[in-house]
Amino acid sequence: MIRLCVDSDFETIYEIINDAAQAYQGVIPADCWKEPYMPREELRHEIDDGVQFWGYEEGELVGVMGMQHVQDVTLIRHAYVRTARRNQGIGSQLLIYLRKRTTRPILVGTWADAVWAIRFYEKHGFRLVTGEEKNRLLGKYWSIPKRQVETSVVLAEQD
Ligand SMILES: CC(C)(COP(=O)(O)OP(=O)(O)OC[C@H]1O[C@@H](n2cnc3c(N)ncnc32)[C@H](O)[C@@H]1OP(=O)(O)O)[C@@H](O)C(=O)NCCC(=O)NCCS
Repeated sequence: MIRLCVDSDFETIYEIINDAAQAYQGVIPADCWKEPYMPREELRHEIDDGVQFWGYEEGELVGVMGMQHVQDVTLIRHAYVRTARRNQGIGSQLLIYLRKRTTRPILVGTWADAVWAIRFYEKHGFRLVTGEEKNRLLGKYWSIPKRQVETSVVLAEQD
């Protein structure tokens, strides 16, 4: 049910991300929101940059989660479950599956305002790092705009 996404999944990944990202509208700062939330060129760039998408399939893909190995860590990137399929355990299954696929420490970044996403990772044993540590980690392992650094949080696996 969980499989590595391939080139022909590109449009479906694009659809899932932009459907699920509607959750951010009116929640994250207005200047961080755009429509589509992730344009095709940005998605292409992320894949070219090493984000490997895994998908949860049930006839069709209903959720995706990206994994990116950067230096000595693994980042969970772009976790999205179709709006209609949220809160049914799909995100959890993807996260549990991906965690088994790396031996490096895992870090996750998300919007500070996405309280549901923070709770989701906390339930899986991740903990918010301090503001200072967040700035250090986002600077070291992510390539995101300064404004996104200001408005994001980082969660790390509990020791
Ligand atoms: C964050 C996200 C990927 C999680 O995926 P999901 O499939 O909804 O996650 P799960 O269903 O595994 O867990 C979410 C909640 O549903 C609950 N749940 C899990 N299985 C359930 C079930 N069978 N019935 C009812 N609730 C269930 C979980 O306990 C969890 O509750 P919590 O939020 O209080 O911790 C998804 O909600 C999403 O796409 N959100 C919008 C985009 C986003 O915020 N992405 C994160 C970017 S890093």
